[in-house]
Amino acid sequence: VIDIRKLYAATGYFTYDPGFTSTGSCESGITYIDGDEGVLLHRGYAIDELAENSTFPEVCFLLLNNHLPTAAERTDFENILRRHSMVHEQLTKFYSGFRRDAHPMAIMCGVVGALSAFYHDSLDINDPQERKIAAHRLIAKMPTIAAMAYKYSTGQPFMYPRNDLSYAENFLYMTFGTPCEPFKVNPILSKAMDKIFILHADHEQNASTSTVRLAGSSGANPFACIAAGIASLWGPAHGGANEAVLKMLEEIGSVDRIPEFVRRAKDKNDSFRLMGFGHRVYKNYDPRAQVMRQTCHEVLGELGIKDEPLLDIAMELEKIALSDEYFIEKKLYPNVDFYSGIILKAMGFPTSMFTVLFALARTVGWISQWKEMIEDPVQKIGRPRQLYTGDTKRPFVPLAERG
Ligand code: ACO
Repeated sequence: VIDIRKLYAATGYFTYDPGFTSTGSCESGITYIDGDEGVLLHRGYAIDELAENSTFPEVCFLLLNNHLPTAAERTDFENILRRHSMVHEQLTKFYSGFRRDAHPMAIMCGVVGALSAFYHDSLDINDPQERKIAAHRLIAKMPTIAAMAYKYSTGQPFMYPRNDLSYAENFLYMTFGTPCEPFKVNPILSKAMDKIFILHADHEQNASTSTVRLAGSSGANPFACIAAGIASLWGPAHGGANEAVLKMLEEIGSVDRIPEFVRRAKDKNDSFRLMGFGHRVYKNYDPRAQVMRQTCHEVLGELGIKDEPLLDIAMELEKIALSDEYFIEKKLYPNVDFYSGIILKAMGFPTSMFTVLFALARTVGWISQWKEMIEDPVQKIGRPRQLYTGDTKRPFVPLAERG
């Protein structure tokens, strides 16, 4: 590994790497990806094993603390999350400032950023205890804030979190429950929700995580840093892809039109891409997509949806693309977003909420990475260089002489 700082100090040279395709920005012990082999490990544990055998709060604990919780630690952590799950009553007023038809990701950027206005006094990022509390607050409050964004769009009253429910159950309750009738938790759906959260928990130095780290490298308030991460996640090339996949599947409309769209995706004069395909790091099947596909079948089965045309199109599209020379040569495989939209749609979420759920789950990854960065003695403020391509120095032209 080249120490680029020493190289720069000695030579004055720096690397030009648009999109940071080959630049390591930090050391990290949180998440390992082998893109060629399709491997994803969190703190050394395989993602499929975590999705199958653990719960999202356990994975949160693991990411933050570098070990799986004991039974006592797990109970304690779940209680901490419950304790912090309510938001300041004043924060609920922020929602009414937004249009009802605002995109919920726009609301998330604003409301999560606004948390910094509630906790700025007590927040010393150099105090490990305060960092921990900030992490707990964020993880605990995200389901409440996300569900409120949904409720606001439907005009229904906000539902307060309930301490007798698990993290995933509570989110489903706050989203789909109403004060008029008792809420029945479907264990298959809450397990699926929990799995979806686990699959999105962290993914090393992607665009939104790098954004959180970069914002945090100046010593900024962590709530504001997470809001920056949410903004970055929103784009269709990143977290917005699950929403884009569903739109694409709807646009394709029927299995017989797939070849036309595959042809378009290969045409360099057409900006169309197969959404949910390809990844900067994975040059093999995204291991999260495997679990997501299985979960998709489980959820549709549970809901008794025998005929879901979008799932038929997705499975056929996957089959066709995986046997197409273009996709094989470029190593384009389905990523985590390819099947998640179908599951979320079946569960009753509108497409505009898909990326919000991603943000909710990724918050633990963002805040774990932020914490790791603050605790890393080597880290400095992030400050990339540039290749200047503008004019060389020229004399100032007075207004009267500018024509
Ligand atoms: N459909 C068709 N062609 C594609 C696709 C696709 N989905 N993805 C990449 N390619 C092609 C590109 O045109 C390019 O071809 P070229 O070498 O002839 O120029 C080549 O494959 C490499 O693509 P890049 O865009 O250079 O790869 P990069 O690593 O920068 O992009 C990305 C990765 C953004 C994920 C890309 O594959 C993409 O746009 N996919 C669709 C959007 C998507 O699903 N995003 C979700 C990512 S996962 C996540 O954020 C959770």
